[in-house]
Amino acid sequence: MRGGMGGRLRSEVDDQFKLKDLNKKALYILKDNIKSEKKELIYAVLLTLIIAGTHVLLPILTKIAIDDYISTKEFNGLAIVVAGYIALALVQWFASYKQTFLASKIGYTVLYSIRKKLYKHLINLDIDFHNKHQVGDITSVIMNDVEAIYSLISQGFIYLISDAVTLVAIAAALFVLNLRLAVTLLITIPLILYSTKLIGKILRKAQRDVRENIAQLTSGVEQNLSGIKTVKSFSGELNQTSKVSELSEKTRNAQIKAVAISALHFPIMDLAGAIGLALIIWQGGMLLTQNIITLGILMAAVSYVRRIFGPLMDLSQIYTTYQTAGASLDRINSFLDNKQQVKFLAEGEKPEDNYDIAISNLTFGYDQDAIILENVDLDIKQGSHIGIIGKSGSGKSTFIKVLGRQYDPNEGEILIGGVPYQNYSKNEFKKILQILPQDTYLFPLTIWENITYGLKDKALDDVEELISKLELEDFFAKFENGLETKVGEEGKSLSGGQKQAVAIARAMIRDPDILILDEAASNLDSQIEKKIYKYIKTDWAEKTLIIVTHRVTSLDLTDKIYEVRDKGIFEINKDEIELAGWDRVTSEE
Ligand SMILES: Nc1ncnc2c1ncn2[C@@H]1O[C@H](COP(=O)(O)OP(=O)(O)OP(=O)(O)O)[C@@H](O)[C@H]1O
Ligand SMILES: [Mg+2]
Repeated sequence: MRGGMGGRLRSEVDDQFKLKDLNKKALYILKDNIKSEKKELIYAVLLTLIIAGTHVLLPILTKIAIDDYISTKEFNGLAIVVAGYIALALVQWFASYKQTFLASKIGYTVLYSIRKKLYKHLINLDIDFHNKHQVGDITSVIMNDVEAIYSLISQGFIYLISDAVTLVAIAAALFVLNLRLAVTLLITIPLILYSTKLIGKILRKAQRDVRENIAQLTSGVEQNLSGIKTVKSFSGELNQTSKVSELSEKTRNAQIKAVAISALHFPIMDLAGAIGLALIIWQGGMLLTQNIITLGILMAAVSYVRRIFGPLMDLSQIYTTYQTAGASLDRINSFLDNKQQVKFLAEGEKPEDNYDIAISNLTFGYDQDAIILENVDLDIKQGSHIGIIGKSGSGKSTFIKVLGRQYDPNEGEILIGGVPYQNYSKNEFKKILQILPQDTYLFPLTIWENITYGLKDKALDDVEELISKLELEDFFAKFENGLETKVGEEGKSLSGGQKQAVAIARAMIRDPDILILDEAASNLDSQIEKKIYKYIKTDWAEKTLIIVTHRVTSLDLTDKIYEVRDKGIFEINKDEIELAGWDRVTSEE
């Protein structure tokens, strides 16, 4: 769904992208990443000169063979020229092979280096960045845009030099042989260029239509599959199926149209080449009959016409290569321009002898002009178990996100253990504080692998130990393969409550000093929820627990309750909640 949209916008942008608009900074991406390949790049360019040389020399050997040996019937000399021809052809073959290999190698190495840096950069960006960008767009930049750099380096740069040098060398050789033939050849060049360009343009438009249709089709299929539950529960299958088949049909039509044009591509190129050849034979034939040139020269000229063909076709594509690569570089650059706002220190401080949280004068808004929390003061002593309630949209999750350093406060200070919480290293901070967000994400792994995800020093027995401490053995025994059960994509094969139990275990096995559950137990049945809180109350007495909830029963084991309202956080007592008939807290039992 998301990749699809990204893909559609891309082709539209590429076609309108003006190279002159390319941010100069974007070129540094290339410069930085190509540095290590400098030696090989020089080697590839040197090979270019050798290849161009062979293209010039081979037809000249043909000329020598015809004029000096065949027409004079000196067959010994002919054998030497033929041997020379073969040797030169071997040199050309080897140099071309080596050059193609190097061009690809350099291209792939640069691509690898850019992709690695870009991925590292993007993965380290704030949650805020990831909230604002769709996964498909980010993936597309890492995959497709970086791929475009490959063509830029191999075709757009190395082949460009190779083709240009070959063309100039051939033209120069022809001028030396015969001026009129050279001029005739020069006339055929625009002919070939124009026809390749024209057909290329029409073909690109058709291919763009195909891409757009495929993008829409992918998007349609993906949307339906990711929302399959909703599609089914509203009996939308029929409607959706016909939508997808309509998109499939449109894609097929666009593909057939594109094939009709691309099938013309090579024949038209051949035709242009044949016309070029015909002109040379016509002019050359006349010159030959007038004894102005020899048969050898005519044959050499015919050979040159054939040899300019490949480079010309490459060159006619070059602007498109630059345009596509330019647009891609621009996008990569704009992604690299996003800087991490929330910064962690590499070497942080250690907390003093407690994990008290002291919040003073905290103000935060996702936007400067839409403040969600204002001048909040709050002290949460180590070992306290507190509940946070509040209406939907009041700012509970926002408060938790700021506390978890997903966002930095606009103003104010948060101390944990007497240390400003910005002064911890990332590792230290994650060791101290674990947050379970409202929406749980599970990886398509087994239950225990999900629980120990990212922890090298924890294994199945640690998970079993935790489960038995929580007295949840029965709960997990219900699964077909116990803790070895695979949870499916995004935990699809688990119930809502089961997913939350896995997520809670995942946070608890990390043994944090402060555990925060943001509606993270809301789907668990209250028996299981109670078991977890009971364990926390008795065995985690030293640790701080913060529960954000809409359920009154979840608040049973808490010492203090706060309500988020009017941009502030206020302590209230349990009676108050019930007396006020607080509309969002639902009472069970
Ligand atoms: N990433 C975000 N960017 C901009 N605004 C946001 C973002 N996340 C939340 N908000 C806004 O901040 C306000 C508070 O949202 P928050 O998620 O903190 O509410 P909540 O109290 O947790 O609600 P609920 O009980 O429904 O979970 C809402 O108005 C919401 O629209
Ligand atoms: Mg919330």
